Amino acid sequence: MLKDQDRIFTNLYGMGDRSLKGAMARGCWDGTGDLIARGRDKIIEQVKASGLRGRGGAGFPTGLKWSFMPKESDGRPSYLVINADESEPATCKDREIMRHDPHTLIEGALIAGFAMNAHTCYIYLRGEYVRERESLQAAIDACYDAGLLGRNAAKSGWDFDLFLSHGAGAYICGEETALLESLEGKKGMPRMKPPFPAGAGLYGCPTTVNNVESIAVVPEILRRGAEWFASFGRPNNAGTKLFGLTGHINNPCVVEEGMSITMRELIEHHGGGVRGGWDNLKAVIPGGASCPVLTAEQCETAIMDYDGMRELKSSFGTGCMIVMDQSTDIIKAIWRLSAFFKHESCGQCTPCREGTGWMMRVMERLVTGDAEVEEIDMLLDVTKQVEGHTICALGDAAAWPIQGLIRNFRGEIEDRLKAKKTGRLGALAAE
Ligand code: NAI
Ligand code: SF4
Repeated sequence: MLKDQDRIFTNLYGMGDRSLKGAMARGCWDGTGDLIARGRDKIIEQVKASGLRGRGGAGFPTGLKWSFMPKESDGRPSYLVINADESEPATCKDREIMRHDPHTLIEGALIAGFAMNAHTCYIYLRGEYVRERESLQAAIDACYDAGLLGRNAAKSGWDFDLFLSHGAGAYICGEETALLESLEGKKGMPRMKPPFPAGAGLYGCPTTVNNVESIAVVPEILRRGAEWFASFGRPNNAGTKLFGLTGHINNPCVVEEGMSITMRELIEHHGGGVRGGWDNLKAVIPGGASCPVLTAEQCETAIMDYDGMRELKSSFGTGCMIVMDQSTDIIKAIWRLSAFFKHESCGQCTPCREGTGWMMRVMERLVTGDAEVEEIDMLLDVTKQVEGHTICALGDAAAWPIQGLIRNFRGEIEDRLKAKKTGRLGALAAE
């Protein structure tokens, strides 16, 4: 269990003063100029050594991503873009940072901007996050007034401007290249990668897009040392992390813990346990809608990190889980996600545009029990046609939950189809 003194986010629940004065009293902006004085290479080297992996879901090594940015300008400006379009169902960890601990993010942005030769940073905020915008803007204004942003920011010798841009509620604008399109004032549609944003990003200029949490932890990593951060979790899965717990648990919450904590410990200690007790657990979606659902048996020993989830053929994603008890119609729950992805598909590429609708409609028939048993494998086949054949990861995200359902709950699907044929569906539901 993480000790209080090892927490980076000390005002996660908004109990403390979130003004600049309050943030400084908690350690923010302490010696920021000195951290920057260490120089670009040293900062990137330390972020690499800390083992920090992108906290938006994909887990790409943060320091490595920073190192892709050009060291010298070729005449084009470099940009830092912070992805605050937190739209993954059940994920609301970045929201807590922006609401209650915004200075961790702003200080991190200045340091990251300097490290990547960027004088300008945009924070792209989810459309629904109105209170977060107010909180962040108030913090940004206070920083400008205090000389922590703008010319010679925090007396570092580095000029740095920070702008908030508010999205309009499209899930796809959280995909980094769709986000860049949207920032440029265009329709939020993903671009083909490569080129990756470091080569050609915002307005065709070198750009790094990082998640809120990835940036907000950087000042403390530099202050306390890369080894300190790397001491949490296990190799390849380092650091402290914000976990989210939602669904059928007694105490839904966002909590900072060391990586590689067990799922059971998170649920029982921080989540107050499964509604009706651990034996009432049916399934958990571990890290966001795209992560394949796990059975209660798998959850018993599941380790919450990248490798732990990969071993269970799922993924760690944002680390924000949905807990489901025995009352859950698991087929319907996954159908609901299918409907979500169909709705959010931008329609640009055929396998996603057509495939998400196909998958949702077959899922619908599985929910009502009207499909033939052979359609289960046909559906699986459709997911394989979509997976890996689209411009962005939304196609994969729509395919994986269905694959997880079929892999782990095939028996339940088959029982439902048979029960419908024999007229026992009502009785099955009551059992
Ligand atoms: P990705 O794996 O394509 O890329 C991750 C990051 O690494 C990107 O910034 C990309 O530019 C960079 N990158 C990857 N390979 C690179 C290379 N060879 N050279 C240079 N840079 C490289 O994943 P993507 O599509 O950015 O994110 C998918 C994830 O997003 C999913 O795993 C999901 O968990 C998560 N997600 C999170 C949401 C949220 O609200 N936080 C919403 C939706 C999805
Ligand atoms: Fe758009 Fe879907 Fe293609 Fe992504 S995979 S570009 S969301 S159609």
